[in-house]
Amino acid sequence: MNITIVGSGYVGLVTGACLAELGNKVTCIDTNKSVIKKLESSVVPFHEPGLGSMLQKAIKNSCIKFTTSYKHGLSESEAVFVCVGTPSKKNGSPNLDYVSDVFISLAKNMEDHGVIFIKSTVPVGTNKKMQSLFRKYNKNPNIKFASNPEFLKEGDAINDFKKPDRIIIGSDDIEVQKISNRIYKPFNRQSNRMIFTNIESAELIKYAANSFLATKISFINEVAKLCEKTNANIDDVRHGLGSDPRIGPQFLYPGLGYGGSCFPKDVKGLIHTFSSMGLDSMVVNAADEANKLQLKYFIEKIKKSVSKPLNECNILLWGLSFKPETDDVRESLAIKLIKNLSPQVKSFYLYDPVASLNAKLELNDISNIHFIKRKYSKIEECNFLIICTEWKEFWDPNISELKKLKDKKVFDGRNILDQQAIRDANIEYYGVGR
Ligand code: UGA
Repeated sequence: MNITIVGSGYVGLVTGACLAELGNKVTCIDTNKSVIKKLESSVVPFHEPGLGSMLQKAIKNSCIKFTTSYKHGLSESEAVFVCVGTPSKKNGSPNLDYVSDVFISLAKNMEDHGVIFIKSTVPVGTNKKMQSLFRKYNKNPNIKFASNPEFLKEGDAINDFKKPDRIIIGSDDIEVQKISNRIYKPFNRQSNRMIFTNIESAELIKYAANSFLATKISFINEVAKLCEKTNANIDDVRHGLGSDPRIGPQFLYPGLGYGGSCFPKDVKGLIHTFSSMGLDSMVVNAADEANKLQLKYFIEKIKKSVSKPLNECNILLWGLSFKPETDDVRESLAIKLIKNLSPQVKSFYLYDPVASLNAKLELNDISNIHFIKRKYSKIEECNFLIICTEWKEFWDPNISELKKLKDKKVFDGRNILDQQAIRDANIEYYGVGR
């Protein structure tokens, strides 16, 4: 099948690469010339495990190509996936300008037939608005529309795409349902994962899913605080709680709070949708508020536990990306923590396996930070260690290296260390709810 993908970010490229691997002829359109140039030489502009080699293979097999031109990108296309970003505006609502621009360009360049699927996360009602916008410029009734929200996680995106829990298609049109079944058939073999809904329900499923997961995280973070005041241990509480299949063990890991380009934006977006309908969003609002407090709480814990003035302390910090296996630092709790604490401390030594370059751009106006290439290289000069991201290489650190920390303290913002082993080495350990 000839498929066009508009927008070459995480969602667009992963979708393109996975559909090209099946033998479809995929064309990716992006208006950013430098991104297209990089992709043509198989360079992925961000870190996503496995994506580079998949693209390389697809290019070699002539199953994927890249262009800045809608005219070229749409020729003979039967399905178009819109995958451009919808970043938050100041009032919390998502900015839909990129999606609107895409629809105008599609309307001006699509001639024959085809289905336009919106994968971008857009508030309920947007698909219909985009259809009206499209129809202003293009009245061809053979062009159809569907909402097809995406549920991939950065760092594991290919796996999520190929092994979906569900494939949501918002459309009442039989032709759209047929073409959706054709596209997704190879990922839908073991059991039927296709869920057809109306267009509004599909849009809302995405916001509800992300907001629910964010709420789960805020809930466990709150319970972790209670653990610290009592003799309860969050690891055991989480295990016991998550063993109830009605609750489930996933997204119950306490930490510094949730970050990234999706949860914070989508939670705020849903709150905005509620208020625009004249409704209260008590639960989602609380998840958002609790998330803001979580980092403050951790920073207070650091301040209370440090015996000397912070402005005499050098801090070693591991993990800058918002989660492991990505170089994405958008809404990263590590970046927020550094911005908050850097005016009060002597200096920060920062280490991340892949995200330092992006972090440098985010932190370029802060002078007392140093990026290091090896995680133990400055340990003797540092008073204590803060872990912000659970990269695998941080889980089992060399204890004799940790002993070199001047104040022998470790703040584990993701509860990944063996706290007993750390304490046995006479290093003070501070986790979240442990
Ligand atoms: C999230 C969703 O998980 C995807 O299903 C969705 O498709 C995607 O947003 C999107 O809307 O595009 P992502 O933001 O890549 O994916 O990352 P997650 O793994 O969900 O993590 C989000 C944040 O929650 C991270 O900061 C992570 O550290 C935090 N988290 C996650 C916790 O604090 N505790 C947990 O138990 C799980």
